Amino acid sequence: MSCRVIIGTQWGDEGKAKIIDYFTAGADFIVRYQGGANAGHTVVVNGKKFVFHLVPSGMLHPGKTCVIGNGVVVDPEQLLREIAVLEKEGYEVRSNLLISDAAHLILPYHKALDEAMEELRTNKIGTTKRGIGESYSDKCLRVGVRAGDLLDESLLRERLSQTVRMKNLQLEKIYGKPVMQAEAIIADLLRYRDEIGGMITNTPYLLHAALHSGKRVLLEGAQGNMLDIDHGTYPYVTSSNPTIGGALMGSGLNAFDITEVVGITKAYVTRVGEGPFPTEDHCEAGALLRERGGEFGATTGRPRRCGWFDAELMKHAVRINGLSRIVLTKLDVLSGFKRIKAAVAYERNGRRLDFAPTAHLDDVVPVYEEFDGWDEDISTCTDYAALPARARDYVEFIEKTLGVRISIISVGPDRDNTLVREQA
Ligand code: GDP
Ligand code: IMO
Ligand code: MG
Repeated sequence: MSCRVIIGTQWGDEGKAKIIDYFTAGADFIVRYQGGANAGHTVVVNGKKFVFHLVPSGMLHPGKTCVIGNGVVVDPEQLLREIAVLEKEGYEVRSNLLISDAAHLILPYHKALDEAMEELRTNKIGTTKRGIGESYSDKCLRVGVRAGDLLDESLLRERLSQTVRMKNLQLEKIYGKPVMQAEAIIADLLRYRDEIGGMITNTPYLLHAALHSGKRVLLEGAQGNMLDIDHGTYPYVTSSNPTIGGALMGSGLNAFDITEVVGITKAYVTRVGEGPFPTEDHCEAGALLRERGGEFGATTGRPRRCGWFDAELMKHAVRINGLSRIVLTKLDVLSGFKRIKAAVAYERNGRRLDFAPTAHLDDVVPVYEEFDGWDEDISTCTDYAALPARARDYVEFIEKTLGVRISIISVGPDRDNTLVREQA
């Protein structure tokens, strides 16, 4: 049995999609388990770039089944756009894609309310304005519309008319925004039903059956550990659980099904949106990381905040997710830095802290260790021994500090820029 979970260990954008694409070669089912079109997952094959938001990042491999799990919030309009782009490129999508009937839909009022709330709030989160928080709120309030509801027109009409009445009150009375017409939304939903209705099914049942008949499953996380609504830097987080618990909830598989948890870790750290970031570099190094790493959001195009590797936050990710191993990405971006820094502890008021306090990180001071950098371009290295000694020292420092093996190192965006230390 093989069920591998891929989890981002920082604030997202660690290069998860590139590694999911890599692992897809050895998988049969690739399952997105949470988040929505706030995710921007980039895969580069022979110089050609694809950005996935909802479609699982394994879609470029023919003959695999991609699943949008029950934990995902699905914006059908965005999904159709993505399918159209892939089809234009000659990929077969419709017969390879399944959508959980229990996945909640993101509707126009979710996006309008997400934007309106951001506008009004004083402690802005810097959301992607994709309606993520609003859709998950409706799920918890039990007023959400699920993919499966598309298949029952009278139920859909009943749900929608009631919910749109409530949402319009919110939009108009609280935020002073234009109201929406239930009939127009229903008409769109019926159009989506005609397009994607045939892909909607009970995916937990299917995944259990597949796994227990010897099929290999790959669970694709979006966002990352520090954006987790429970374990991240609340309230500056997303509205789901990108961590291991979310992988179970959002796929319907159980803890005993999981055979491996792979953490995807950038060799430095980035963050998009607001919230604490102790190792952020506001000076030259941060700007250089952004420029060399191409650190601009794959969903919103916003410049990513950049800073140094943070072992304290990584220890938190190891604890929460029980990482079996780590894939270290973007090591090539550090080439050319004279000195490389990494936080190994936090202090507050001159005293060492025992662990990283995820909610109150604003006043902690990182304690850094410094390393000599290397000049060589490492993007074509495919052999660990061929890496400059200083690059290997840095990799081994991370491994030793976290007590987790780094088994793959990514040294460039392309599928080929991947250095495998040991085959799994
Ligand atoms: P994800 O959200 O975790 O899938 O990551 P994103 O796609 O948002 O951002 C990662 C970015 O870095 C993308 O532009 C990737 O093409 C690129 N990338 C991934 N791995 C590497 C790497 O090892 N080196 C470099 N230079 N770029 C990488
Ligand atoms: P991937 O999967 C980086 C951030 C937003 C914002 C916060 C809440 O590509 O790693 P939301 O729209 O989810 O309510 O926004 O979370 N955020 C991400 N940052 N990568 C992502 O996804 C993100 N998805 C959400 O910038 O700070
Ligand atoms: Mg991303």
